[in-house]
This record gives sequence, C-alpha cells and structure tokens, in this order.
Amino acid sequence: MEIKVSNINKLDWTGDALALGFLADNVQLSDELHQLDQKLDGTISELISEAEFTGKSGTTATARIGGQKSLRKIILVGLGKPEELTINSFRQGGGSIARAAKQAKIKTLAIALNNNDYDNNLLAQVISEGIILALHEDKRFKSDEDDKNILETVELLELPADQKAIETAEKIASGVILARELVNAPANVINPLTMAETVQNLASEYALELTILEQQDCEKLGMGAFLGVAKASDLPPQFIHLVYKPQGKAKRKLAIIGKGLTFDSGGLNLKISGSGIETMKMDMGGAAATFGAAKAIAQLKPNVEIHFISAVTENMISGKAMCPGDILTASNGKTIEVNNTDAEGRLTLADALVYADKLGVDAMVDLATLTGACIVALGNDIAGLWTKDHQLATELQTAAQTAGEKFWQMPMESKYFEQMKSPIADMKNTGSRAGGSITAALFLEQFVKDTPWVHLDIAGPVWAEKPNAIDNEGGTGFAVRTLVNWALNN
Ligand code: BES
Ligand code: MG
Ligand code: ZN
Repeated sequence: MEIKVSNINKLDWTGDALALGFLADNVQLSDELHQLDQKLDGTISELISEAEFTGKSGTTATARIGGQKSLRKIILVGLGKPEELTINSFRQGGGSIARAAKQAKIKTLAIALNNNDYDNNLLAQVISEGIILALHEDKRFKSDEDDKNILETVELLELPADQKAIETAEKIASGVILARELVNAPANVINPLTMAETVQNLASEYALELTILEQQDCEKLGMGAFLGVAKASDLPPQFIHLVYKPQGKAKRKLAIIGKGLTFDSGGLNLKISGSGIETMKMDMGGAAATFGAAKAIAQLKPNVEIHFISAVTENMISGKAMCPGDILTASNGKTIEVNNTDAEGRLTLADALVYADKLGVDAMVDLATLTGACIVALGNDIAGLWTKDHQLATELQTAAQTAGEKFWQMPMESKYFEQMKSPIADMKNTGSRAGGSITAALFLEQFVKDTPWVHLDIAGPVWAEKPNAIDNEGGTGFAVRTLVNWALNN
C-alpha cells in the first residue's frame, strides 16, 4: 500500500472511494461539497440523512454512487465535536477511514481531511499513521492468513504536505508494529533468547551498537535482584543494551528502560486462576515499546544519543526458584527481602536502572507493565507517570499529546515507603494492596541516584481487549509514539 500527497481537487479526483471528514453536530456541506454532491446526484446529502450521520467521533458511513461515475463510493468519517478536536482526532479519522475502505473492498482511495489549526505535515503524518496502524492485523499465528485488505493507493487531497511526513509515519508505524508483534507473540515464541535475537537483527539492520550481558556478566556486576527473578527459568537471562548514536555531536543523552518479562507466572507466589496468568506474555510490553521506539528512532535519526535497555527473563517456578522471603542484593548494594515473588518486574528494573544511571545520561525513562494496581487506578486506556522532575514530566506529556497516548501523573508519596520497611533487609519488594502502583514507583526510586527519571506504568494500555480506531485486539504498541516524539523534540 502506498500513501502519497496529491494536488488533485476532490471535485476532479477519480478512483474507487473518496473519504470526507466532518465535525460533529455540524454536518453541513460547504459550497465545494455542495458542488460535489450535485455532481454525484445527491449521494452525499442522501447518505448523511439515511445513515443519520452526525460526525460523531469514530463513526463512518459509506455509500455506493449510482450510474457509471468515475468515483464508485463515498466514505464519510466523523471527527467528533469541534471543542474536543485534537491532532489525534485526525489519526483516528485516518484509522476509521482505512477500516471502512477495507470493508468496502477499495483499491484506490482519496482522503480529503484538512484543518487550518494544524500543521499540514503533522496532519499528513498522523492520518498516515492511523491508516497503517488500523490496517495492521497480526496474522502470524493463523494458518489461513489471507489478508482481506486490497487497498493499493491512498492519496491525501488538499493537504499541501511534504511526502517526507508520510515517510515519518511509516517509520513510526514500523516501530509500533514491532512492539505489537513482540507483545502478541506467546512465551513459547518470544523468550529471553528470541528477544535478544530480535534486537540483534535490529542492531545489524540499522547499524546500532549492541551489548548483551550474559548471566556471568550480570553476576560480575552484582545484579542479584535481576538474577533472583531469572533463577527458575530454563533459559538464560539476557541483559540487552542497544545504543543509537547520531552522526554529529549529540545534543542530549537519554536512556529508555523497559520491563522485559517474556512470561510472568508469579513465581512461587504463583498467579492463581482468574488472575490473568494466560495473558502474561504481555509482561514484556515495556521492552517491546523500548525496542519498537529504537526501530523508529534508528530510521528517523534524531540528534540525540539513546540507550535502549532491558533485563530480559521469565518469572517461572522450579526447584531452583527464589523463595518468598529470600534476600537479594541489587547492583547498588541495597538488599531486598522478597515478600512476594510476583512483584518481580521491579526487581529486574532495579538492576537495569542502576546500570542506566551509571551511563551518565541526561534523563531516563522506564516503562513497565508493573502493577495491576495501576489498572485499577486508571483503567485500561491511561498509563501512570511518576517523577519528581517537573521538566521531564512536561516533556513526556507534550510528546504523549501529539502521540495520542494518555499518561496521568501520579504522586511520589514518600510516606508510603514505610510499608516496605523490612526488619531484616533494606526494604521489602511490596507494600500493601492500597496504593500498590505508588509503592512500586517508590521501590524503583531506590535504584536511581541523581539522573532525572520518569517511571511509566503501562500495564493497562499495552493490550486492547477490543479494536478501536487504530488498534486491533491484542498488543497496541503503546508508548512507542510518545517515546519517538520525546526523542525527536528534546
Ligand atoms: N506483571 C504484573 C502486573 C500486571 C498485572 C501487568 C496485570 C498486566 C496486567 C506484575 O508483575 C505483578 O504481578 N504485580 C503484582 C504486584 C503485587 C504482587 C504487589 C500485582 O499487580 O498484582
Ligand atoms: Mg508479577
Ligand atoms: Zn510482571
């Protein structure tokens, strides 16, 4: 499928389908659309009234044009209420149009979506992202993998943008898709070794520096927290460190650290039935977003140096498993009484944060499917954000806004750390159920010295139970777009 900008007017365009965008509660035909409507024997006005099309966000209506016209179908898409319009409305609009076009078996499509309040290049980019992401379906594990999508070309009309904006969208989408595919792949496909292989392929394709620390290397660095989690796995842990360096002098050095549990059984505090254990292949969603962002960033080449890090393992059970009550020593020397083996993500992140902190970066972000408590607090569509650094919070929120991804800043309530006081070690790894996502963040803070740091709990939004405008059921690739924007803008 090819997306391109075109300077043909919608009145003159010929092809299978033309898509038009409308704001909610104001579905009126402009002079130009009125002219087009007349040319199409009233198809547009008839469709609006017959489908009771109101321009509500996410809705579409499609009609066939009678007679032997050089245009076969018309697709209307709702962009929602004007006061709720954001740049993401256009990403969603692109996605909704692509879905409608696929349903209508369209080969050649034109989209007339523009808006004077937004930059044309950004509009072209987000509409393209929406199209590509909505059409991506993960069919790798189906034996009959016929893709019903026959869309060949999409032309963006009346949007004087640079073709480069569409290439940017393609690069970002390739990163989001990698993250989705990593999350969707079950634990018998993506394990610590195949995860490392995937990153090796990325490194050689885009000429990135890669270091993989094996178990012995991690032992030498004293990564007792990470290795404690890895003990019961039959597969060796892989500590992955991928680096993107720009050609000239980097204006900033950043680190992105993702939780990489290719499966979380809970360990000896085994996840009980009904706890969603069968979905725990998604517990590397942070690592997936990290390496998805790396894929996009390696193509977009911003002028910043970025370290992509994940301590990858599985949380399993066996005679070698760490026991509840075990005391682990992390690589900064702090000791942890493991009062719950299912709070394993923070143990792996502890050593990853200590490692990243030593790189001398200007800022670091960790992303993790860390707590069920964060889902209870914010639901499935919003991730939690913790930091004491106001500027970093603003940078990420700005990046997220354009990305159409939602983060809600949560409190670093120091007092709650008391819940993790241990009589025998420096700390326990869990506090009480109440405020569980906050104590998790406070635990991580123990492993950050003085690098400005943000923690993102993405347990909810990494996975979609049902499709929305741009995501299909399954892995969403959440946070890739935010991370890419962050790298590009700062
Ligand atoms: N991977 C889970 C968190 C999770 C839950 C992610 C649901 C996605 C969906 C994490 O390792 C975990 O098990 N957390 C425990 C912490 C508890 C033992 C303090 C939890 O959230 O129940
Ligand atoms: Mg767990
Ligand atoms: Zn986990």
